[in-house]
Amino acid sequence: MLAVRILIVSPQESQTLAIIGQGYVGLPLAMAAVDAGWTVLGIDNFAPKVAQINSGRSPVEDVLDNQLAAALASGSYKATTNFSTVAQASVITICVPTPLDERREPDLSLLENAVHAIAPFISNETLIVSESTSYPGTLRDYIIPIIDKLKPKESVNLYFASAPERVNPGDQIWNQKNTPRLVGAINNPSQDKALSFYHSICNAVVSVSSPEVAEAAKLLENTFRLVNIALVNEFAQLCSMGGVNVHEVIDAAASKPYGYMPFRPGVGVGGHCIPIDPLYLTWWARQNGIKAALIESADSINHAMPKYVAERALSLVNPDIKNPKVLILGVAYKPGVGDIRETPVSELRGYLISKGADVAWYDPLVPVWEGSEPVNLTWECDVAILATMQPGVDLEQLIARKILILDCTNSVVGLSGVSSL
Ligand SMILES: NC(=O)c1ccc[n+]([C@@H]2O[C@H](COP(=O)([O-])OP(=O)(O)OC[C@H]3O[C@@H](n4cnc5c(N)ncnc54)[C@H](O)[C@@H]3O)[C@@H](O)[C@H]2O)c1
Repeated sequence: MLAVRILIVSPQESQTLAIIGQGYVGLPLAMAAVDAGWTVLGIDNFAPKVAQINSGRSPVEDVLDNQLAAALASGSYKATTNFSTVAQASVITICVPTPLDERREPDLSLLENAVHAIAPFISNETLIVSESTSYPGTLRDYIIPIIDKLKPKESVNLYFASAPERVNPGDQIWNQKNTPRLVGAINNPSQDKALSFYHSICNAVVSVSSPEVAEAAKLLENTFRLVNIALVNEFAQLCSMGGVNVHEVIDAAASKPYGYMPFRPGVGVGGHCIPIDPLYLTWWARQNGIKAALIESADSINHAMPKYVAERALSLVNPDIKNPKVLILGVAYKPGVGDIRETPVSELRGYLISKGADVAWYDPLVPVWEGSEPVNLTWECDVAILATMQPGVDLEQLIARKILILDCTNSVVGLSGVSSL
């Protein structure tokens, strides 16, 4: 019995952090933790990504190759597919995807797989934190019961908290260190450990009374954005109908110093957060017998935007052209990243094709998309749709060639041949 205890890692002895999932959330967290003095094991079940990371090539924009290489060379970080290594950690954070299933309902299967994989190896006195976004109750009702069932029998004292990640990939200002971190734990000892852990990495930590508050706050933040984007998308259509420039209206409204926050219309919403997280909330509402009508309506409005954008673009083309050539500029879901998850440009392209258009695309940050490769900007087209304003896209040459452009990004102002949403 004593021998077993000696093998168990306690937080006083170990400054090892295991992060499950080495993607947009987990890898930047790993780098921040290395900077803060932690030894980090980056655990991921996708072997090619682990190999890529260990060769010093970062799969995410927010971690530079030289930063990753330095962390690897220092010996403070390595990626692995070996889940049993969590036994060395005093803190484990779970950063795996929480997508939707084919019914557009929460799909916790990846989270479940991750929890099953780590549970048998968790050492006594370990803090386990869920950073993945999910509905309130996920830590308490879903993660903890699995761990309690599968953990080693010696691991009698475990600590649990929820600290949803708020990273905004590609953001040059806000990062893991300077974005305040919400922390809500299941009891006071867990809260103390979680606060202490995040204080070691983040400048500001916000303590909330339960994991459910932290989980719900994350969903509120992203739902706030979904709803406001839907509002401005609907408003843009009204303005267009009335011949009013929506961006001038938004700028005018934003001159009010309080009570208004500007959002911009666009092709829709994309990425792993804004289109998905609010549906965790609508699902949670339905489980409790409530319809979250405003959120569902916002989701529908945003989903209708690609069709609206396609129709606006095709309306610019000479109707005698039966199969207009349409060039889409920017297919990533937002500027500055190559992330194409849930990009609304996918529906835009599908709708254009269904209307008989010959569609090509260009995005300097995306080498391959949906099985096709980009064309270059010299591709002859009847209209171009600026869907995502990627850095370095030379619009001048399109404008010089008098190509009609529908700008969905408010990047080009007051030039003839360029319409805005
Ligand atoms: N991307 C964002 O901007 C963002 C921001 C805040 C919060 N989040 C949330 O953070 C979580 C992770 O998102 P992400 O963007 O980092 O995802 P990601 O797809 O970039 O990375 C997740 C990683 O987890 C790995 N993985 C999947 N299943 C696994 C398993 N069972 N065991 C180990 N590794 C596994 C994948 O191979 C991948 O490398 C999600 O819940 C998401 O909603 C994301």
